[in-house]
Amino acid sequence: MFFVFNWKMNPTKKEEAKSLFDFYCQNLERKNFKKTIIAPPFLYLPLFFKKGIPLAAQNCFYQGKGPYTGEISPLMLKSFQIKYVILGHSERRKYAKETNEEVAKKAKVAIENNLTPIICFGEEKKEKNLREKNIFSQLKPFSFLFQKKFSQKKIFLAYEPVWAIGTSLPCPLVEVERVALKIKKFFSQRGFTNYFFLYGGSLNSNNIRNYYSSLVDGFLIGGASLKKKEVKKILTLVNNP
Ligand code: PGA
Repeated sequence: MFFVFNWKMNPTKKEEAKSLFDFYCQNLERKNFKKTIIAPPFLYLPLFFKKGIPLAAQNCFYQGKGPYTGEISPLMLKSFQIKYVILGHSERRKYAKETNEEVAKKAKVAIENNLTPIICFGEEKKEKNLREKNIFSQLKPFSFLFQKKFSQKKIFLAYEPVWAIGTSLPCPLVEVERVALKIKKFFSQRGFTNYFFLYGGSLNSNNIRNYYSSLVDGFLIGGASLKKKEVKKILTLVNNP
């Protein structure tokens, strides 16, 4: 099981960020570092990369370098030994107006630079009949993955229904499993098998255990990743699977 902690645009002070990161280090057994990925804001990445817990950036650009003011290149992430990058989070789709095509372009460049993308997808509204259609239209531009040169690359696919994010209304496990099955079948049938399926949306220390399933390979945790009490309990689960 993988546990990805997405801090989003928090905390606002460097000292708070350091203290939170140290708290993770103190509560996580070293042998479990590999299962845990922390995604702090960009500015904090250089403070943490030497501590041993894998880090994820929360975004990157689809060009390696050049006149792209305000962007961060996958090459820069690589040079700080960042292994993962979250792409296409629904908050970026909403506030930065990222399209499916842009997210796929970013994923392609990230993979070409040996980063592992954590690709977020999920329907906006709770309309079960439209779920599949929405999800597959989001994933359509990712067909580049089915080229032979990408077939051995590793990706994370994070199913995060937008209506379940930050709402205290997680998507029921049976529905998550249904999506997992469809997605896994879709990728496997096209010769791409090196993926891990994550679920994210209102997970916390009380409900996360309900999502342990042979179809779910891990979790993307937002709000709870900032609360030390929650972090402690979740890391206890990581340490005692
Ligand atoms: P949440 O966020 O856990 O606060 O619902 C999840 C996410 O946005 O990745």
